[in-house]
Amino acid sequence: MKSSIWIVDFGSQYTQLITRKFRELGYTSEIITVEDGLERLKTIKPKAIVLSGGPQSVFEDTTDYSPFFADLKLPVLGICYGMQILGQFFGGKVEKGVQGEYGLAQLHCTKGFSLAGFPEKSNVWMSHSDHVSILPENFQQIFASENGLVAGIKHKTNPILGLQFHPEVHHTVHGKEVLSYFLNDIAKLKTDWSSKTMLENSLEEVKKVKGSKILCAFSGGVDSLVAASLVQKVVGNDLYCFFVDNGLLRPQDIHTIKLLQEKTSLNIEIIDASDLFLNALKDDKDPEHKRKTIGRTFIEVFEQKVHEFEKSHGIKFEYLLQGTLYPDVIESISPHKKGGKSVTIKSHHNVGGLPERMHLKLLEPLRFLFKDEVRAMGLELGLEHGWVFRHPFPGPGIGVRVLGQLSLDSIRKVQESDQILFEELKEHKLYDSTWQAFTVLLPVKTVGVKGDGRVYEEVIALRMVNSEDGMTASVTELPWSFLNRVSSRICNEVNGITRVVYDITSKPPGTIEWE
Ligand code: XMP
Repeated sequence: MKSSIWIVDFGSQYTQLITRKFRELGYTSEIITVEDGLERLKTIKPKAIVLSGGPQSVFEDTTDYSPFFADLKLPVLGICYGMQILGQFFGGKVEKGVQGEYGLAQLHCTKGFSLAGFPEKSNVWMSHSDHVSILPENFQQIFASENGLVAGIKHKTNPILGLQFHPEVHHTVHGKEVLSYFLNDIAKLKTDWSSKTMLENSLEEVKKVKGSKILCAFSGGVDSLVAASLVQKVVGNDLYCFFVDNGLLRPQDIHTIKLLQEKTSLNIEIIDASDLFLNALKDDKDPEHKRKTIGRTFIEVFEQKVHEFEKSHGIKFEYLLQGTLYPDVIESISPHKKGGKSVTIKSHHNVGGLPERMHLKLLEPLRFLFKDEVRAMGLELGLEHGWVFRHPFPGPGIGVRVLGQLSLDSIRKVQESDQILFEELKEHKLYDSTWQAFTVLLPVKTVGVKGDGRVYEEVIALRMVNSEDGMTASVTELPWSFLNRVSSRICNEVNGITRVVYDITSKPPGTIEWE
């Protein structure tokens, strides 16, 4: 999204939170790379620039940042590393930290400085080692850390502010007040973001492709549902949603698709390809192999069915609609992650490569939105609460919830146990108090008693976690009575299961899925 507030990303893991907090305050902003920022400044002038935090040290950084500060009337906010850049640029002194300040810290407003809504002392989130030790000329100190370090500086006459702490992080209790101080009092900007403008902007974007045939690999999940409903509002029957049944779905998924077919005006074609998938997976035991096989088979099935459909209907698709969200977009531009050496824990992108292969252009109308904004848009579009607040469900589905080799019988055990868990969560009104909830079949047999006889049967693990974005997660604390009820129903109703366990591992170290 083009915006006149640029957030220059130096690779901090918190950069996207700045955009989030700005939106909560009613402002759009755009995350860009340093190179992009320096290049753009040759021809355009933003209304404000934010220099984010980052893992580097100014002592190793030889970039010439002068274009950011060439116009002293241009509001600039430096956060953490950003403050060190401006501290050094304006002639102050940055020193290598001996000890560093990481995590929660207490901040004091310095004498003579006060901020509406910001108390004298307050908890903030710090994550730095280097710090500004001597103020640049014409700057005043506004905050100090409890260790006596400079934690905030402000130019005496120009709209330039530096913060050593992270106002965008949830743990900084009054962070929003500081950001609002920059946007309102220092930069004097007008608000331009609301759920209404969000919907209008997205609709505008979709209008550009009106008249083309649009294809959607529809999963029925929140993102593809909202994206499809948005596009359908503009292009009507030129949107075709193809839903591939890979045989690895839960009863609730099939139910939702049928309901959507019935209750919405979306054009949904169901492709039943379960046999093909199960056959392709018959020798796969390893999680990554299974993911690759499922991804590959999906592309093959999808491509073939779509070509058949094009032939029989005499049409040609031009666009592929995808429900890509902003965090994925940011991930792909972040200097920290791009080309970085991060290890692939799981290959998530099951349908990557589809647009190139099918010679389709991409349509990603949600690519500037965060998940909660997508949900809000879904409600605005008239979608039912239950559809818009569904838990995430991974592309490989039950394929990674039966550990090791899959069989029809093991898939059934997960389907039936998952349905019980789902029904009980709804029944006990606990569905919305957990972020994701599912069952996993463990390939271990344990001894039990059923009736008067000894049985030797498999185990179901329950996994329920709370999370913001799936990157970290904590175990959902649920009432024993609820867990007991689920366990007893699974043992009684699912053939072949005699034992139920509750996974109490946070992420890290345990990933959310078991495979
Ligand atoms: P992990 O298991 O990596 O899961 O902690 C984090 C989130 O990602 C989902 N997940 C996947 N989603 N394809 C997907 O589309 C995958 O292969 C995949 N693996 C995990 C998982 O359900 C959780 O929400």
